[in-house]
This record gives sequence, structure tokens and C-alpha cells, in this order.
Amino acid sequence: MALPPRFVDLKASVAASYPDFEKNATQSWAEILEELDKVTKLIKEQGVDYIPQVNFADLQTLNHEQVDKIKRRGSVVIKDIVPDEQAAKWKEELKEFVKVNPTVDGLPVDDKQFFQLYWTKPQVQARSHPNLLAASTWLNKLYHTKSNPDSPKFEGVDLNIPLTYADRFRIRKPGVGWNFHPPHIDGGTIERWEDPYFRRCFEDMFTGNWRKHDPFELEGRLDARSSLYGRPGQSSIFRSFQGWLAMSETAPTQGTLRVFPDVLLSNAYIILRPFFTLTIPPGTEGIFDAKNWKFDLSKPDFQGIHPRDGGYVGPRPTPELHPNMRLENCMISIPKVNPGDAVFWHCDVVHSVETDHIGKNDSAVMYIPAVPLTPQNQAYIERQKAAFLQGETPPDFPKGEGEAGYIGVASVVDISNEGKRAMGLMVDVGA
Ligand SMILES: [Fe+2]
Repeated sequence: MALPPRFVDLKASVAASYPDFEKNATQSWAEILEELDKVTKLIKEQGVDYIPQVNFADLQTLNHEQVDKIKRRGSVVIKDIVPDEQAAKWKEELKEFVKVNPTVDGLPVDDKQFFQLYWTKPQVQARSHPNLLAASTWLNKLYHTKSNPDSPKFEGVDLNIPLTYADRFRIRKPGVGWNFHPPHIDGGTIERWEDPYFRRCFEDMFTGNWRKHDPFELEGRLDARSSLYGRPGQSSIFRSFQGWLAMSETAPTQGTLRVFPDVLLSNAYIILRPFFTLTIPPGTEGIFDAKNWKFDLSKPDFQGIHPRDGGYVGPRPTPELHPNMRLENCMISIPKVNPGDAVFWHCDVVHSVETDHIGKNDSAVMYIPAVPLTPQNQAYIERQKAAFLQGETPPDFPKGEGEAGYIGVASVVDISNEGKRAMGLMVDVGA
């Protein structure tokens, strides 16, 4: 489906907001293509080794080089956040939950493996596990600001306080082809351009300073409106990193996550892409040569953004629309993880899920992102808390029957003090 004609005006208004836009964007575009050509070759060569892996126990002592690598690549495996036995036990408990509650919502409908459940005991316990919350804090603190952090605009922000975002889990069986998650970015679609606050996160791309773009600058994220259209399933909060905790061993080819492991470059390319038209076919030689692209504001396309349910989905980069990302080779599978390991990916990272699972066992994960205390996030947590107390679906997700009637749903007594604080159920830990 085509995008509405008014998006031509949106494109023109973005361009008009920055002096010398055409000149700067064209210069940047040439540089980004050149850099992508280099980096995608490296990514292809290194494969899974390109994804940084660290131990939870070492988080506080990583050197600058390790931290910089995590920030540039945008994804990280953190090993042994919780003991293997604990994570494996959660999986068994979740299996038991769906067995004793056979009417729960899930996909595929005839053989459920992705569950629309948020408030089971294992999920609530995992989210409130002190180590998971400590890992979240560490990830949240990779963000910073070049502005004065004491200024009033940072009031109510504390990167040392992690919040909980209730999401779902999957227990994926081997041998089933899944096409639900092609390469995409969550947490805002056309809003990345349309919302002036969100757009501020990417301003360096519009002013010819794309190399200075810092995906970890906090300021623009605080007021960014990632859900202007309120489409169900569109996250409305700021997750510093999305993430999942493994409850089983999962290796490449076993239905795991894939990421494009260079968040600076993917941001730069995807944000400027709508302003250029390729003048040769996407599969041909020459796509990395800037002379085969032309600056173009004439069409409403924002490549990879698609209308859906009164709002939009995407960005969903594809080899046709975003050929310079070499997605066929550069969507890299997460290296093998064990129960209790987790993977986290920055909120702008392009990610997908392997279509096939050719392993022998379940590939099971709980989705648990890192979320810092900000006024916008705190407001969401308040609404989420009410949903928890009523056993209802959390506010960002498609409304279902709720979970109040199911056997084994968590209650406040199942949550650690740190977890209660993170869920807005308690103001001060230890108070
Ligand atoms: Fe996603």
C-alpha cells in the first residue's frame, strides 16, 4: 500500500528545516555509501564473531574498547545473568502454565509457541530478578547527554533506576518456518521523521554531520513520541535496549535473533534513504557509487514504512529498498546462548528472527528490555501497574481476554523489592 500524498510535504518540510539540506545530505549520502561498502564486507567476513559477548560478572570492569564496540555494534550477549537451572526451571513452569490453561492466546493458533501472556509467575520473577535489573541499569547507563544533565529538561530522569516493561515469551519448536519477523526496527515508525522531537535524535544526519550521530544521546529520546497513531502493538515507551532472556540453549539456525550489527551506519542510511532515488536496478554493480543516486523529494515514499491498522509499521529494510546494507549477508545470527544468558539490542537496531529452526529442541526466550526511569516511562509504568493488578493486558499490547482467570498468574508477593520499585509498586527500595 502506498503512503499518503501528504508525506511529500513531510519530506519537504524536513528538508526545509535544515540549512543547505540538499548539499549536506548529498555529501553525507556519498560518505555513508562508501562506509557501508567497507563495513558490510567486514561483517560478512566475521559473521557471529561480530556480535560482542560479555559475562554478567564482568560488566562493571569492561574496558573502553569493549564498551565502544558494544555501542557501535548496538547489540550484546550478556552471559550468565541468572543461573542455567533457574532459567530452565522458568521454561518448565511456563510450559506447565500453558498446559493447565489451554485457552491462552498464542501463535500459530493450532500449535501455540508465541504466547500473548504477560503476568505468569516466571515472567514477573525474571523481570524483577536483581541481576536482570542490574544488567538493565548497566545498559541504560550507556546513554548520556552532551547537555547539562542538571537542567530542568532532565528532571525525573534517573538512569540508575530501571523500570519493568511487561512483554511476552516464546517457546519455539524445531522445524517450523516462521515468517513473522523480517528485518525491522521497533519503537517508532514514520515518527522518526514526522515527530519533531523524535527527529532530533537523528539531527546530525540532516545537517551533514552523520559521523557525529550518537545513538546514545539521551536528550531526544526523552520527548520522542514513538506512537503518534496509537497502533496496538506499537511500543509507546523508551526502551534503551530491547532484549530477551534465554531459557534454553539456542544457536544460529535454531530460530534465533538476527541483527544488523552497526547501529550508527544503519541509522544514518535508513534516515537519509527517503531523500534519494537509485537510478540503476538495486541488484547491479554501482549501488555504492553516489553518482547512481539522485537527491529526490518528489515522492511520498519513506522506504520500509507501511500503513497498517490506522498507523504505520517499519522501518522494514529489504534488499530491494535498502540494497547497500547487504542484508542477505549482514543480518547476523546471535551466537549460541545457554539458559540464563540474554541478548540486548539498542532500540534503533535492525533485527529479525530466523525463519527456520532446524535444531532439535525448543528455542525459548522471555522478552525483557532495558528501560530507564524517565517521566514518560514512569507514566506508562503507572498504567501498566494497573493492568497487572487487574490481570489485564499491558497498555501497549493488543487487548485480549486478560489473565485474571488463569491458574498460576503472579501476584505482588511473587516480586522482589527491586522488582516492585521497577513496576511502580513501591516508591523506595528499603524505605
Ligand atoms: Fe522486533
